[in-house]
Amino acid sequence: MFEENLKGILSALKDAPYGAVLLTSPQNRFYVTGFHSSAGIALISKDRAVFATDFRYFEDAGAKIQGFELVMTKSGLSYTDIINRFCAEEGVTELAFEADAMSYAGYQAYSAKLTAKLVPEDGLMARLRHIKHDFELERIEKAQRIAEAAFDKILTAIRPGIRECDIAAELDYQMRLFGATANSFDTIVVSGENGSLCHGVPGERVIQNGDFITMDFGALWGGYCSDMTRTVAVGHVSDEQRKVYDTVLRAQTESLAAAKAGIIGADLHKVAADIIEGAGYGEYFGHSLGHSLGIDVHDGLGAQPTNMEPLQEGVVVTIEPGIYLPGKFGVRIEDFVVLTKDGCRNFMKAPKELIIL
Ligand code: GLY
Ligand code: MN
Repeated sequence: MFEENLKGILSALKDAPYGAVLLTSPQNRFYVTGFHSSAGIALISKDRAVFATDFRYFEDAGAKIQGFELVMTKSGLSYTDIINRFCAEEGVTELAFEADAMSYAGYQAYSAKLTAKLVPEDGLMARLRHIKHDFELERIEKAQRIAEAAFDKILTAIRPGIRECDIAAELDYQMRLFGATANSFDTIVVSGENGSLCHGVPGERVIQNGDFITMDFGALWGGYCSDMTRTVAVGHVSDEQRKVYDTVLRAQTESLAAAKAGIIGADLHKVAADIIEGAGYGEYFGHSLGHSLGIDVHDGLGAQPTNMEPLQEGVVVTIEPGIYLPGKFGVRIEDFVVLTKDGCRNFMKAPKELIIL
């Protein structure tokens, strides 16, 4: 499993302009080891991998991590001592660090004590993490099954009189009961006129007949995220609500049909943007069609209007168009897919036809 991730780095390091990489962020440490810890470092050269952590995690790390030499910090053996020893043994003079994750204070502290020169890693980790191995897809799939089990439950609980925050709390609770270790991100539940707040925080607004409710939520399972959004109606809908819902659904369905390995991220975004624009709502779709998904809920580039790169086979990307009418309501529908040579595989089984509860 996670040895596959490690193998990718070991192999990429053969051609890297630096001798080894130092991973300090929890996400990248997890990516290479499959082990969660609040503290630790991973050091990887082209033929050696060392994981160091402290007493709190050492026993568990020994039981769970494959392919690494394990070292425990102690008095007289700090992380910087371990890094300097590794660099001396491996002849490393330039050590890559995660420039986008290490704080300025951390950089200064390491720089003052390390014998090797710290150089920013050149996007290696993002490139590797972007394309998922099968075992990663299986974890994302399981995270999605959990989220959808919670969604089924919430459909039986929504009724006029309950609050947005009640719905969010119930979704979070149900995801935990179905096995989630955490949420992928803070659950979004917005209703009625709050629906135009794409990433609004669930509040005490009471659900009424005639409301749209947008729920955007995800489960974390096995260290990987899911992410789904559904908009449902309560009681009845107006002609305008129906038109907006149908437009978002068409934008979503057409984008899913266009999603395939090789498509430029911006072109995929444009499929949805053009449909929404054509229906007269262009100015009310102000975010990207989708992002990549993995260990982080935003795990790299996806279907953003600024992404001029082709999306590769094995990338997991969300497809989440929306229309947000300030003071009235909003609609977003989100699935996520893994891109294949011929199209994509959708992880979502939940219905998308308008549900009126
Ligand atoms: N579903 C949350 C987000 O995409 O940011
Ligand atoms: Mn999303």
